[in-house]
Amino acid sequence: MAKLMINKNKKEGTIAPEIYGHFSEHLGRCIYEGLYVGENSEIPNVNGMRTDVVEALKEIKIPVLRWPGGCFADEYHWKDGIGPKENRKKMVNTHWGGVVEDNSFGTHEFFELCRQLGCKTYINGNLGSGTVQEMSEWVEYMTFNGVSPMADLRKKNGHEEPWTIDYFGVGNENWGCGGNMRPQYYADEYRRYQTYVRNYDSQKPIQKICGGANVDDYDWTRKVLETTHDHTVPEFHGFMDGLSLHYYVHPEGWEIKGSATDFDEEVWYKTLKKALYMETLVERHGKIMDQYDPDKKIGMIVDEWGCWFTVEPGTNPGFLYQQNTVRDALVAGITLNIFNKHCDRVKMANLAQMVNVLQSVILTEGPKMIKTPTYHVFHMYRHHQGATLLNSTLTGVGETGIGEWKVPEVTESVSEDAEHIITVTLNNLSADEEKEIEIVIAGDEHVYSVKEAKVVSAEMHAHNTFDAPELVKEEVFTAYKKCADRIKIMLPPCSVVELRLQ
Ligand code: AHR
Repeated sequence: MAKLMINKNKKEGTIAPEIYGHFSEHLGRCIYEGLYVGENSEIPNVNGMRTDVVEALKEIKIPVLRWPGGCFADEYHWKDGIGPKENRKKMVNTHWGGVVEDNSFGTHEFFELCRQLGCKTYINGNLGSGTVQEMSEWVEYMTFNGVSPMADLRKKNGHEEPWTIDYFGVGNENWGCGGNMRPQYYADEYRRYQTYVRNYDSQKPIQKICGGANVDDYDWTRKVLETTHDHTVPEFHGFMDGLSLHYYVHPEGWEIKGSATDFDEEVWYKTLKKALYMETLVERHGKIMDQYDPDKKIGMIVDEWGCWFTVEPGTNPGFLYQQNTVRDALVAGITLNIFNKHCDRVKMANLAQMVNVLQSVILTEGPKMIKTPTYHVFHMYRHHQGATLLNSTLTGVGETGIGEWKVPEVTESVSEDAEHIITVTLNNLSADEEKEIEIVIAGDEHVYSVKEAKVVSAEMHAHNTFDAPELVKEEVFTAYKKCADRIKIMLPPCSVVELRLQ
């Protein structure tokens, strides 16, 4: 029988809560409609933020939110988004649908949203089309607590106290939409721009994120680090705290992508195989990072990840609106297990995107809101946030799949929280077969029993709609039994399971 061996004596690091982070861009209906409806909307809101969405997001313990992009960040001019709304400039959102951006959601609104969510802030600056002065002044506007032109402007706009920027991204995808730069050029620009991202409050230093590679562009990682790594020594701490990585799963490749809901069993396995590729990326980029930063002071920041399918029929192609099935739940479960297991290097990750765009946790339609299968995975996995990763290995697990698209039958990760509760998250990747597994905990006299068990599982295409909002949801998992010192479980096909052991 397959066995999951958990070694309680082998603690492998802390799972940064920020691995469970999110991303919201001025793209389609993510910010407008999805999160922000304005104070005068008939949709219940607090200071313009939709109450239903904020309440649902609080339940999954959003640790950090990245904003305003994405590609949008490198054409965003922050001064257009402050002051009285009627005076704010309107601009064209060239990347996403060519629609009018009225800037009614700007800096003040972002911090208000994060306040309501109780999460950390990750601002992405404009290096591609903005100036050093513009970036520097934005940081001064947000964080300086004294007399200065930008702090005075913030106060004039109604916010006396400075805010806290937890993370600041110096550009986005500067190898592409952020300026089509070559790595050496970007790295030099990074050195220059980040110099003026000042830490006005030494008690709350801003973590600076350098723009990293697209997928498997290892050359980018190497060349950027070659130009910047001399500043990773302790006396320069703060020069560079993170290096980003972007990877999306397109089952049929970038051009075709593939439908979110209409796929066969082969595409199911193809998608999961592509999701598993995240592990190769983390390991290979991580090896290069180890050469320049052996003490792992620089975090790998996977600030865009998730499934990117063809948009829903009849929707604006520039809005990237897609449905979310049990397949997305598996992609989320697999990917989060990978991040947990690499928590020595992966310090933050941001699902793209939070609402109504790509692999969202929430979809809205007018006043209606639904939670996606991905939402439920984040809800179950929230117990890993800030917990200690325990060494765990699976034996007796084979492969499943079709043709070249072979995947392991099961993936897992295990952590222990401050109350010594062990959280085990497992995914059964098989489209049609259940899998029996026994769980053994070594290195502890204590005999564990199941305190709580949840499952998300249904037919692979199953998804929630505004007419049937609860077709896929977390349910109580009962397919386990205790046998002496071990627990035997039966994982249903297409499932994500969470066990809490005490
Ligand atoms: O998340 C959608 C887009 O994907 C982002 O704007 C960009 O950074 C990436 O290419």
